[in-house]
Amino acid sequence: MDCCILLALWYLIPIYALIQTLRFIFADADFTLLWARMFGRRPETELKGMVVWITGASSGIGEELAYQLAKFGSRLILSARRVDELNRVKQRCMECSHVQEEDVLVLQLDLLERKSFKSKTNAAIQHFGNIDILINNGGRSQRSLCLETSDDVYDALMELNFLGTVSLTKQVLPHMMQRGTGSVVTVSSVAGIIGAPLRGGYSASKHALQGFFNCLRSELTDYPKILISTVCPGPVQSKIVDNCFTEEVDKTMAQGQDQQHKMSTSRCVRWILVGMANQAKEMWISDQPVLGFCYLWQYAPTWAWFLTAMFGKRIVQNFKAGLDAERLHFAKPKAC
Ligand SMILES: NC(=O)c1ccc[n+]([C@@H]2O[C@H](COP(=O)([O-])OP(=O)(O)OC[C@H]3O[C@@H](n4cnc5c(N)ncnc54)[C@H](OP(=O)(O)O)[C@@H]3O)[C@@H](O)[C@H]2O)c1
Repeated sequence: MDCCILLALWYLIPIYALIQTLRFIFADADFTLLWARMFGRRPETELKGMVVWITGASSGIGEELAYQLAKFGSRLILSARRVDELNRVKQRCMECSHVQEEDVLVLQLDLLERKSFKSKTNAAIQHFGNIDILINNGGRSQRSLCLETSDDVYDALMELNFLGTVSLTKQVLPHMMQRGTGSVVTVSSVAGIIGAPLRGGYSASKHALQGFFNCLRSELTDYPKILISTVCPGPVQSKIVDNCFTEEVDKTMAQGQDQQHKMSTSRCVRWILVGMANQAKEMWISDQPVLGFCYLWQYAPTWAWFLTAMFGKRIVQNFKAGLDAERLHFAKPKAC
């Protein structure tokens, strides 16, 4: 009998290891999300009827979140600076789902105007009665070398990505604590867990968010029904690069980078919603090899540094040569 068990294990363990390796090679999200998608709760049922406040809803990931949540029958508060774009998103929500005019509130909000957050939160609660989920998604990125970037850019990135997000959360969370239930989902980035060239200030702001929300979660153990979740996407198709900071606050990037190699916005958003429905505390969402790189960074940092040095050098060379820094061009750039 013992012999049979040993023999079974002899075959089963390698087969299990092979299956897991194959799953990982083709994965575009971490193992918790993969598990949740196969065996967990479905976002369609879990998020139906929820009141969800999305910041940065006028474009990219936030816009797509609005469409997918509207299809589930969630009620939405859409925030960003550009009201005309928010109205366009609202209109499309009503066209692609059964939500009605009164189910979608357009609430203009500038994440840099922290003094307005109290009244905006009150307006949202007055409209729907409560807020079930806050998705802190609004933000901007950066493409510039650390030492060539002005302090004003670092200031602006921290003000927007970190302080704006933290301050809004501080307004909304007490209402959730009063009710004993709710979710605060913050779109961080893979740059919030790893370091990569050209993103010094952006990465710092996202690391700061990771640190803040990890601490906050640890202070809320008396509220088991409140979820504090951070989302770490890799490259995703959106306007993020067009809108990102460079060396100076008022200097923008050249428009129209190729986005074909990035994950589609709808795929990324689907994973976020799977994670939310299954109470995932941290989500890593990216195609390979970036996903594998996150695991290396977490579990084998020495190897991660070896690869960072190799690829980082090429990314910096490409950037200095004026090539698209979003892609790894392995042909040596021509000397100018
Ligand atoms: N796309 C990626 O590859 C990627 C990867 C990792 C993480 N992320 C994160 O995902 C989030 C969404 O980015 P995205 O990729 O969807 O980029 P996006 O298309 O540029 O969208 C950014 C959103 O943020 C809003 N926003 C910018 N400044 C704001 C301000 N001062 N106040 C309020 N809203 C502001 C913009 O709206 P208005 O201009 O109308 O205000 C827009 O709706 C960001 O936090 C980003 O860091 C993106």
